[in-house]
Amino acid sequence: MPINHTIVSYTNLVQPYGSQGALLNATQDVAAKVIPDPAKLAATMANLKAGLDQWQKKQIDPRILHGPTHRMAAQLQSHIVRQATAAKKIDSFLIKIKDFILEGVEVKFSSADWVEWAASFFTWIADIVPATQPKPAPAADTIDDKFSMGILGDFGTGLYGAPVACKSINSSGDSYNLMLHLGDVYYSATPEEVQDRFFQFWPSKGQMNRTMNGNHEMYTGGHTYFETMLPKFGQKASYFAFQNTNWLLAMLDTAYFQDFGGQEGVLDDAQMTWLRNIVTAAGDRKIVLFSHHQPFTQLDDNLGGNLLTQMEKYGLADKIFAWYWGHEHRCLLYDPHPKYGFHGRCVGHGGFPEARPDLGNAPASPDFGSQWRQLSPKSGPNAAGETVPIPGAWIYDNNNLYLPPGLQKQFAPNGFMRLEFDGKQLVEYVRAPDNATVWLRSLADSTQASATSFAH
Ligand SMILES: [Fe+2]
Ligand SMILES: [Fe+2]
Repeated sequence: MPINHTIVSYTNLVQPYGSQGALLNATQDVAAKVIPDPAKLAATMANLKAGLDQWQKKQIDPRILHGPTHRMAAQLQSHIVRQATAAKKIDSFLIKIKDFILEGVEVKFSSADWVEWAASFFTWIADIVPATQPKPAPAADTIDDKFSMGILGDFGTGLYGAPVACKSINSSGDSYNLMLHLGDVYYSATPEEVQDRFFQFWPSKGQMNRTMNGNHEMYTGGHTYFETMLPKFGQKASYFAFQNTNWLLAMLDTAYFQDFGGQEGVLDDAQMTWLRNIVTAAGDRKIVLFSHHQPFTQLDDNLGGNLLTQMEKYGLADKIFAWYWGHEHRCLLYDPHPKYGFHGRCVGHGGFPEARPDLGNAPASPDFGSQWRQLSPKSGPNAAGETVPIPGAWIYDNNNLYLPPGLQKQFAPNGFMRLEFDGKQLVEYVRAPDNATVWLRSLADSTQASATSFAH
């Protein structure tokens, strides 16, 4: 049974003890043997409790993949998958999804197992040190003036829309010069997870393949990312750039220097200096950025940490034409940023089953139907506590057809984007996992592509 079918739910975790409190008490006794320093032990247990609380909040149904943006909780999920698989402490269940049956697996273990697993868990995480981040190429690689790329964000579940998108991309007539992953392989990008949840389902249509660093890759120090994923794709570094006559595409690493939670991205000065040099060398080419983390958001209260602050500091904020990111598991096409003018796109809906809040009476798209809803501009606090504008957006909002029938309404849809650069033109497609186009616009000249052939 490949591990991409294995779900570690909050319910599974607490079941041998019946409650979180009892589980934490038992865990504290085990942790004390591995962590002799009382202050360090107390901090570790507080961190674990915070992770469990967040994990509990993220569970909608124990059979559907979920987890918090929390380093220790994600590590624990990976550790339990590993231990339960080795000890065969797993129970399978069948769920019917669309026209196929998914055989899922949930972990089932006893309190005796837990004592053993918790000890090896604390030993494992204490030994994780970050992998080395290789030096980037100093200049952009040249690409053709006609260039197509696929963007898959937060794709590393091996479940729901992800395998469907892989199949439909591979069987389509579309070619891709570049297939780009925006980062995140769940639960914490261990070698087994990267194989079973990512490579197994990565489409084979890209002439080039690249993958970006995400917070989940860094939860295990980025080792599988830097030491397995990059070599396999023939990729030299975690940030890099391409350019042709009209465009500069720069892919950034916002995860390497993130804090342990990984909710906010970080752009370090060395990377910003590299980016400024690349942008200067690009002259009047239009600049398109790609990153795992968001520079701002409509969805959450986290306005991107230092990403825009760094862009301003390095004189780049108003030079950006468009910025594509993942991390948040939705698809949003933002209006031009009111201060900097760039087009923000959140494309983190590749494979994660994200909860779908009720958008109330947000207006539907006149062109693409009720599966696109309009969010109004608003404002929120940035990292420095200043109130900053957040542009309005179109959000892709529909049932997720790749979840069991009773749950489809509660989860946001999966999908991906295709970009076609042709001379000065940039055309954006948003595709459902079955490769159906659900949004199509020419972005570069702001004229609207024909929408008449669309069935909503
Ligand atoms: Fe993610
Ligand atoms: Fe993420």
